[in-house]
Amino acid sequence: MLYVKDHLTNQFISSHEREQMTCQLSAARDLLDSRACPGSEYTGWLDLPMTFPEELIERIEETAGRIRRDYDVLIVVGIGGSYLGARAVIEALSHHFSMLLPAGERGCPLVLFAGHQISSDYLHDLIDVVKGKRVALNVISKSGTTTEPAIAFRVLRDTLFRDAEREELAKHIVITTDEKRGALRRYADEMGITTFVIPDDIGGRYSVLTPVGLLPIAVAGFEIRELLEGARAERERSMAPLSEGFSAADRYAVNRMILMRKGFQAEILACYEPSMRYFAEWWKQLFGESEGKDGKGLITMSVDLTTDLHSLGQLIQEGPRVFFETVIDFASVKHEIMIPGDPADLDQLEYLAGKPMSFVNRQASRGTALAHVSGGVPNIRIELPDRSLKSLGALIYFFERACALSCIMNGVNPFDQPGVEAYKRNMFALLGKAGFEEMREELLRSSSEDGE
Ligand code: PA5
Repeated sequence: MLYVKDHLTNQFISSHEREQMTCQLSAARDLLDSRACPGSEYTGWLDLPMTFPEELIERIEETAGRIRRDYDVLIVVGIGGSYLGARAVIEALSHHFSMLLPAGERGCPLVLFAGHQISSDYLHDLIDVVKGKRVALNVISKSGTTTEPAIAFRVLRDTLFRDAEREELAKHIVITTDEKRGALRRYADEMGITTFVIPDDIGGRYSVLTPVGLLPIAVAGFEIRELLEGARAERERSMAPLSEGFSAADRYAVNRMILMRKGFQAEILACYEPSMRYFAEWWKQLFGESEGKDGKGLITMSVDLTTDLHSLGQLIQEGPRVFFETVIDFASVKHEIMIPGDPADLDQLEYLAGKPMSFVNRQASRGTALAHVSGGVPNIRIELPDRSLKSLGALIYFFERACALSCIMNGVNPFDQPGVEAYKRNMFALLGKAGFEEMREELLRSSSEDGE
């Protein structure tokens, strides 16, 4: 079960302020749940954990089973919402050093990622490291035309499968894309490649619980039914009538909304487990791309703790008072380690001898939260029993719902990303893509004025 604990925000938010948000929250819930909010055509993720077709789960499991049996490596080619969710879950649950484990011990293909930037050095090294291995590709793009994954797909196909016959090539590739539109759909149909559909009513950053995330997660050896079950349970809890009190998603959305309106400008997501780093990246995109528009929104940042206390701790404690912190807190660890005794005690650690490391981590978390609160940084805590598939499924659904509610309360469309197009248009113009000639002239003129 997922809880939001907000007692460490009490000196910044009074109870009447939370109560006064009930009307706005209720209106936002109604707009979202009746699909009447801005961007309502992209609310397919709301019921998905309930309605996910059994045949589709089976088809994902079957395809994942084939890839697990026949390949050493799966390269997921995608960017933004088309890769962050899968990477978040896989890294949160995998062995920290899975890349170094012998294949037999890992028991499933290594899942690697490409197409999320345009670095030739990265792609060169990736190709280098998979040389001689049996490699499958899962190319994921809803539009099917995004430049970064399109380049990576072309390069990987040309390098890894240059001599493969058409039928052979089709075996090595799975494409996840729109049902009807886009270049990838055309390519898949022409080449007879296995495809999975990204539903029309689900946008990229809300798509982790569709084949976009579920196929790579299943290939990495995880039981996707448990992930969906966690999301289903959280959906049920978060849809309970408001008369029964705020759900966890409601509490989180309301707290961050009040803090934002009080002038806090940035939210820092923190976790004391390093494997959650990509989960934080997924969260940053979810909230950043959903909320950051019309001159509004919180700046989304993340820290790995306690690691970043030794780099950003000072800034958080005493820098500009514009941050609040949201901590993901797991009540248990997978593997406990006891701190050994040493009578010489040269490191002066003997007072911790025989104590579990998780106890020390927990006290670090408590101590840090109290220090930050006293330094003027409100602290919201999201508590989960463990780092399991069910907990992560719940956490994904919780954040998606809280994000949509926050956006609606703040008067922005949670599901579009008009600003992302700006860099794409400039890049196309500078690269000389047909149709962008006039823009190219304009950009060249202004960059030469800049001295470029
Ligand atoms: O959330 C989004 O919609 C974006 O982050 C997209 O997922 C990202 O831009 C990739 O787009 P596409 O899947 O069309 O390649």
